[in-house]
Amino acid sequence: MIVAKDLNIKIKTEQKDAVKVKAPIVEALKKAYENPTYQFHIPGHTKGKGVFKDFKKLIGEKALNIDTTDEFDNLGTLHPATGPIKEAQELAAEAFGAKKTFFLLNGSTAGNLALAMALTKKGQKIIVNRNCHRSILTGLMISGAEPIWICPNRIEDWSVWGNIDAQKIEELIQNNKDVSMVWITNPTYEGVVSDIKSISAVCKKYGIPLIVDEAHGCLWNFNKHLPETALKLGADAVVHSLHKTGGSMSQSSMLHIAKDSIIDEVAVEKALKLLHTTSPSLMLLASLDAARANLQSKNGQKQLDNAVKNAKYLRTRLDNIPGLHQLKGDFGYKTDVTKVFIKVDGLSGKRLESILEIDFGIEVESASDIGVLILCNIGNTHSDFKYLADCLEKIASNHYQDIYYLENRKHMPMLEPQIKMSLRDAFYAEKERIPKAEAIGRISAEVVAECPPGISILLPGELITEEHMPYLNDYDTLEVVK
Ligand SMILES: Cc1ncc(COP(=O)(O)O)c(C=O)c1O
Repeated sequence: MIVAKDLNIKIKTEQKDAVKVKAPIVEALKKAYENPTYQFHIPGHTKGKGVFKDFKKLIGEKALNIDTTDEFDNLGTLHPATGPIKEAQELAAEAFGAKKTFFLLNGSTAGNLALAMALTKKGQKIIVNRNCHRSILTGLMISGAEPIWICPNRIEDWSVWGNIDAQKIEELIQNNKDVSMVWITNPTYEGVVSDIKSISAVCKKYGIPLIVDEAHGCLWNFNKHLPETALKLGADAVVHSLHKTGGSMSQSSMLHIAKDSIIDEVAVEKALKLLHTTSPSLMLLASLDAARANLQSKNGQKQLDNAVKNAKYLRTRLDNIPGLHQLKGDFGYKTDVTKVFIKVDGLSGKRLESILEIDFGIEVESASDIGVLILCNIGNTHSDFKYLADCLEKIASNHYQDIYYLENRKHMPMLEPQIKMSLRDAFYAEKERIPKAEAIGRISAEVVAECPPGISILLPGELITEEHMPYLNDYDTLEVVK
């Protein structure tokens, strides 16, 4: 029986929950939808009336109706942040444990570009992991900062880069007295986690800001079974691709400034204003607001709990399949349980990917020469994983290697770069395009990076060598410095 006192507590908890899951942009869009006005402004399809019929049928009238940009219908503005957009960013900052959060259109790419533009200058030395996303490189090419590459530990059996040692970062700082920033990626695409606490302690010891590209770790602050977010471990700024695993729509991301950050957040905001579209999609902004609200809601917490449980279920099933192996955090590094990188004896990752797709209708996140990457998402159900595990069991016990042939193409380069020119100088140098076979011994003038995961094979300024060739199957020609 609920007594008055309990009822009171229950009502208060419910009220607290209601406050927690407030989604101001979603609410404002709903209000605009329910109170239509005569519209003589962009977007010119005017609530879907001016679009191709088949597209309208596909996407739905409602989606087109709420496709609008900022400034109209009391929806607020993105730059400067006002109204519901400002409120939504503040709620996101609170939820992710940041001092300030910026909503990003054009993905985490926009966040990385803004950080580079705002925080680095021509000639400044920045420690960056060589397997960083190409958006960081683009940012450094724009600003002219000079990367000092740190190569993470190698996980040779899996042909992937692993964690980054704090000690290596300290050595680089000691050997390069003019380092002005450390910028690392955590986790790796395959879910390997670095010890950010120790890396941050090193950065603090030398008074150097630490930026963490946590594009693949946006769920971490919402579940205790996942690694700790860098926002809690001393990073100064963190980028999150909410659209990757957080439940928002494609291309929407967040950039967070940490509570005790020493970076110039006003400069970051200014850079974002310059980089962003001047017609931000309210749908994308609302989806960021909604994703944050969902992760804080009971339902979203349950979805995330289930994602972790499903990942554990999958991993247990995989442990019992002879000839199938999974990358685990057993060897001195940690992993994010929801990112499952697997390989099957006798099959390349590419072949495994194609068998899964053609014979079983399964699409995985990505495939390398070695294995395939499976994401255990908040939107997947337990039966998805049961089906996947059943299929993998069949594949591992059959001789698929005789049925399909797919070229074993190298996708995950693990080469130490030989730098001959600065990134920016090579990018802006006089260039020529030459046949790949003639490019050995020349200096690359372009970023060669396969997506996913957008990690570079060659960068401007790097010597092209024989070892690069197996990674360049898709290229007939290369752009080199003249
Ligand atoms: C580590 C990392 N950072 C940044 C990005 C860019 O993210 P977005 O696709 O959100 O622009 C990616 C994309 O794959 C990534 O893997």
